[in-house]
Amino acid sequence: MIRIVEVGPRDGLQNEARTIPTEDKVAFVDALSKAGLQEIEAGAFVSPEWVPQLADSGEVFRRIHRAPGVTYSALVPNERGLDRALEARADKIAVFTAASETFNQKNINCSIAESLRRFAPVLDRARSLKLPVRGYVSTAFWCPYEGKVPPEKARDVVVALVDAGVEEVSIGDTIGKATAAEVRDLLSRVLPLLGSVRPAMHFHDTYGQAIENVLESWRAGIRTFDCSVGGIGGCPYAPGAPGNVGTEAVVRALRDAGATVDVDLTALEGARRTAFAALGRNS
Ligand code: HMG
Ligand code: MG
Repeated sequence: MIRIVEVGPRDGLQNEARTIPTEDKVAFVDALSKAGLQEIEAGAFVSPEWVPQLADSGEVFRRIHRAPGVTYSALVPNERGLDRALEARADKIAVFTAASETFNQKNINCSIAESLRRFAPVLDRARSLKLPVRGYVSTAFWCPYEGKVPPEKARDVVVALVDAGVEEVSIGDTIGKATAAEVRDLLSRVLPLLGSVRPAMHFHDTYGQAIENVLESWRAGIRTFDCSVGGIGGCPYAPGAPGNVGTEAVVRALRDAGATVDVDLTALEGARRTAFAALGRNS
């Protein structure tokens, strides 16, 4: 069974030039909640100075209609973010770092080692509250500033997050440049080291390789995929980062390959129309 983590309301909306009204974000999440997805990343408790597009995430969490069985998660960069996530009653948090130093500096203003130190108290508190934590490793294949990232570096950061106590690790191709061979190579290094930590893959789609990479990951044993309806998305601190791989395309490709994906494509299409209307895009 495939787990889809719909990141459209966070990754999809964080990079938009236009300000999207809170009620449109709420309508988008509510539309996604009808699609049978297991998890929706509904916002980010990051600095509103750094990502003003998601400054109203607390309000979004307060106003959404939570569907039973759906996990509503959010990005958290530090303890301040955790406080806000708890106040908003997020079901799960995601800490995030990178395999490339330059990207990490640009994105969260600190080194990889410093980010891991910052996560320690966040993870301690989450553990005592029984709040599930995902750890993201961005630029696991390519960095917009440093170019090709050595797979050993990505592996080491994954292992550091596993050692820190996350229960899920999401490996990110932030600028959508990975090839299937690179995906195969990294997964062969990383998967044996995860223990009980669940792996997820997070592909952006720049060169039309994301679906092939999803399928390659599936063949390697991955069952959790991050994607966004209509392929919206991108990181404001990764120049050239385009949209996430589209949820509908992932569902169709995995089903064609023989996987069971229990989501409602008609409801996803409704959610995509809601998002595109909010973004002023043609459907
Ligand atoms: P900083 O400026 O170094 O933070 O930013 P600071 O600790 O020095 O604090 C400065 C001010 O920000 C203080 O306020 C803090 O209280 C406030 P002041 O005292 O000046 O009034 N502050 C906060 N306010 C609200 N919520 C918070 C928070 N933290 C500090 N959580 C920081 C460091 C990490 C906060 C900043 O760099 C940041 O928020 N970065 C986030 C950037 C981001 O969200 N990027 C996109 C998400 S990552 C991504 O897209 C990749 C992914 O999709 C995977 C992939 O594709 O690879 C996940
Ligand atoms: Mg992303």
